[in-house]
Amino acid sequence: MAVLVTGGAGYIGSHAVAALLEQGEQVVIVDNLYQGHRNAILGGKLYEGDLRDADFLAKVFQENDIDGVIHFAANSLVGESMKDPGKYYHNNVYGTLCLLEQMQKAGVSRIVFSSTAATYGEPERVPIDEFDRTLPTNTYGETKLAMEKMIRWFDVAHGIKFVSLRYFNAAGAHESGKIGEDHSPETHLVPLVLQVALGQREHISVFGDDYDTEDGTCIRDYVHVSDLADAHILALGRLRKGEDSAIYNLGSGNGYSVKQVIDVSRKVTGHSIPAAIEPRRAGDPAVLIASSDRARKELGWTPRRDKLEDIVTSAWNWHRENPTGYAK
Ligand code: UFG
Repeated sequence: MAVLVTGGAGYIGSHAVAALLEQGEQVVIVDNLYQGHRNAILGGKLYEGDLRDADFLAKVFQENDIDGVIHFAANSLVGESMKDPGKYYHNNVYGTLCLLEQMQKAGVSRIVFSSTAATYGEPERVPIDEFDRTLPTNTYGETKLAMEKMIRWFDVAHGIKFVSLRYFNAAGAHESGKIGEDHSPETHLVPLVLQVALGQREHISVFGDDYDTEDGTCIRDYVHVSDLADAHILALGRLRKGEDSAIYNLGSGNGYSVKQVIDVSRKVTGHSIPAAIEPRRAGDPAVLIASSDRARKELGWTPRRDKLEDIVTSAWNWHRENPTGYAK
């Protein structure tokens, strides 16, 4: 029996592949390598190709005895999604439809889905729980919500059971130092701050210091990528036990401001990390913090690396050892 990981060469996908291999699972990876990195795959069997290529995907299901799918493959840049919504609907939504159709044909009835806090949009309250309103403020979040809903209707009609995991702010790197975050272009706060410490950027831009928060900068819930990976294994275990479909938030439950992230990064790196206050970035909610009580209770998930300093330290180990990411 094998687990199919789509998008297994990406940031979170590659950490899930590593965690599955550590558990002794057989892993099959599908990735078109448009954004993913071949070197991020620490093992398993890679099929290079696109979910939207029906013949290709049918072959993957025919050649392997797949008992569950973990679905990461998607575009995930909020800014880009606002400029090119068609790309996001095509790759994310249509790509997921193609995957579900092949699962149905092959009789595979378990899927763990990589969702996002962006499905909520501007929160009604914090911490956010899974029953709160979902009203995305960007195309990326809208496509992820559409994917979740599509999977649910395949459950109703065809019994494809799912666990949808809504991540808050993924950060950090694998403890081996072999895999970590490498996006192009990079838009996320932690890697950008660390690029300043590496001398690759002059300063970090702080997008707004006039929010209604203690220090005026946005607060986010940073969760270690390996803790996210562990949650996927637990979610797969839940589906293998025959339990029902579910949606879970994944966050550490701790909120840190942009200024706090920069301060912790100064401490971890020993670099002064100059910061410049700039205008707010469109669509950024002031505070996003998860209630992950359901994941803790029902999945038995405990984020083990929940201190911001530990998360930044692990990211720093990766960036310092791999200043150009996966590119040699
Ligand atoms: N930020 C800066 N300067 C930067 C980059 C980011 O001040 O150069 C700020 C942002 O304004 C935000 C915080 O740092 O307040 C975190 O920003 P990120 O871009 O790292 O992460 P987001 O919170 O915007 O995005 C994350 C996920 C998305 C998801 C979103 C849900 O990365 O995939 O949460 O809102 F859609």
